[in-house]
Amino acid sequence: MAQLEANDLAQAVIDRMADSPNPRFKEVMTALVKHAHAFVQEVELTGEEWMNAIQFLTATGKMCDDKRQEFILLSDTLGISMLVVAIEQAKGMKAQRTGSPQQGGATPATEATVQGPFFWEGAPELPLGSDLRGSAPGEPSFYSGVVTDVRGKPVPGCLLEVWSGDGDGIYDMQRGDDAEMMLRARLRTDAEGRYHFWSIKPTFYPVPDDGPVGDMLRHMGRHPNRPGHIHLMLKHPGHQTLTTHLFVSDSPYLDSDAVFGVRNSLVVDFTRHPAGTAPDGRVLDKPYYTARYDFRLVLAAEHAAA
Ligand SMILES: [Fe+2]
Repeated sequence: MAQLEANDLAQAVIDRMADSPNPRFKEVMTALVKHAHAFVQEVELTGEEWMNAIQFLTATGKMCDDKRQEFILLSDTLGISMLVVAIEQAKGMKAQRTGSPQQGGATPATEATVQGPFFWEGAPELPLGSDLRGSAPGEPSFYSGVVTDVRGKPVPGCLLEVWSGDGDGIYDMQRGDDAEMMLRARLRTDAEGRYHFWSIKPTFYPVPDDGPVGDMLRHMGRHPNRPGHIHLMLKHPGHQTLTTHLFVSDSPYLDSDAVFGVRNSLVVDFTRHPAGTAPDGRVLDKPYYTARYDFRLVLAAEHAAA
């Protein structure tokens, strides 16, 4: 029987995958085994440290339920979610650069960022111009813009999934087991690709730090805060789905987002206005903000070809 030395273990594990029927799975697992073994060797991991890691991952899993996703938080705070997003986005950019000459005039697509742990499937579909605020605390803000492809052609009927925390930085999902949806909606662009709706001006907030990921952040000497942002997911047949945020330009923590999600192109000025008549004719009895942003989507065919 051949005895395996420490330096041979990774290759031995990889060799056992010779009959794996899925080439991509094999490729991913081969790299994972190589890097994991190299990591253990590099830090000369002790048995106690490895058991700590296993207990940490176990606790992370136990923290998860249908409203709390501690593994997404772990991925986000280690920068891995943003890395995956960046790799996907780079494929879309490459597709635009290699488009045929007659398709010229392309401008960069809107940048993507992390989805985060607070997406809740099944938000109500509301007409354009709706007010998402309900009884949520926060300063009113009017959002508007147009959705086009990268060549400026409007995208009518594009579905916008919108969600954010309230003016205190708290998401509906964090309000206990019987929490109802708040500050979420599904809206569709009009015939010219335009959208507009009311919500609140988002504020900075800490990611949930009462679980294992919070402990990890404290051991790292890190704060848990994210700059103020509103989440959007844009879906339309024929275009690549875009998951992104709009960040508030005067928010703290823009330079130290706990999940590394800030892109300069997604930072938006929220312009303050006195009480009065808003752009959609609504009369506000208190000051409000306006935020305008135009989104540019990548055609799905181009993305698939990259
Ligand atoms: Fe968020």
